[in-house]
Amino acid sequence: MNKPGNNPTAKQAAARIQLYFTTGGVSDELLKGSRAVVIDVLRTAASITEALDKGAKYVIPAPSVDAASNLIKQIPRDDVLLCGEHEAKPIDGFDLGNSPSEYTYKRVREKRLIYVSTNGSLALLKCAAAESVYLCGFINLNAVIDTLLKLKTPFPLIIVCSGNHNQFSLEDAVCGGVLINRIHRRIDQEFDLNDGARAAEKLAVEFGEDIPKLLNETGHGQYLKSIGFEDDLTLCAVDSAYSVVPVLRDGRLVALSRK
Ligand code: MLT
Repeated sequence: MNKPGNNPTAKQAAARIQLYFTTGGVSDELLKGSRAVVIDVLRTAASITEALDKGAKYVIPAPSVDAASNLIKQIPRDDVLLCGEHEAKPIDGFDLGNSPSEYTYKRVREKRLIYVSTNGSLALLKCAAAESVYLCGFINLNAVIDTLLKLKTPFPLIIVCSGNHNQFSLEDAVCGGVLINRIHRRIDQEFDLNDGARAAEKLAVEFGEDIPKLLNETGHGQYLKSIGFEDDLTLCAVDSAYSVVPVLRDGRLVALSRK
């Protein structure tokens, strides 16, 4: 319900939340003046959150393996790591792949990271025109919500699921739906949701109760298991274990901490 406040004629604007299941419908025009949350449950959000939690200085998302390889030639090599995956597999000549467990204190502390992934880094770059861009997975979900709700203007909010090769990913959609459901529970305001947001809320009710089971059963989860990354699913499934929120600033992801 609207909260009219002291002035009985004044209406609080409805909180607008739009969710997109892929980056396809997302444009600079749509993003301008909005907050954006990019979701990539498997595994970009987990790896980058882990890296920043373990003391990496920042992470530069790159649009392709070639772009990442070219970028590192322009930066003195001693404190820079080339990281990420192609089709979920480690890339020849790169320092780290895309398993969150690789991003240890020992490897990433005080390092600058150049990072590429098949879908997540592209989704982040696609959202750069938003007022602010946060990276979210199950592992830092409550920290992202806390960060948003501390803002004076958290809305309009655009949630962009990274998906998989421009296709729907159930784990990203469910994470987006859980995010919306938890925002609903935290603030007493009328919401204006697009069809994607409404559908994601329902998916969250259906699939969001048992996240480890969900990740074990989705298409990308099964693919990761088939190529030997089963342990990553367990790490990516832990709800709100981290207080770090990666935020995009001038082309770099840096750590916001809710502490
Ligand atoms: C992506 O961005 O597509 C993912 O992080 C892929 C993965 O490594 O599992």
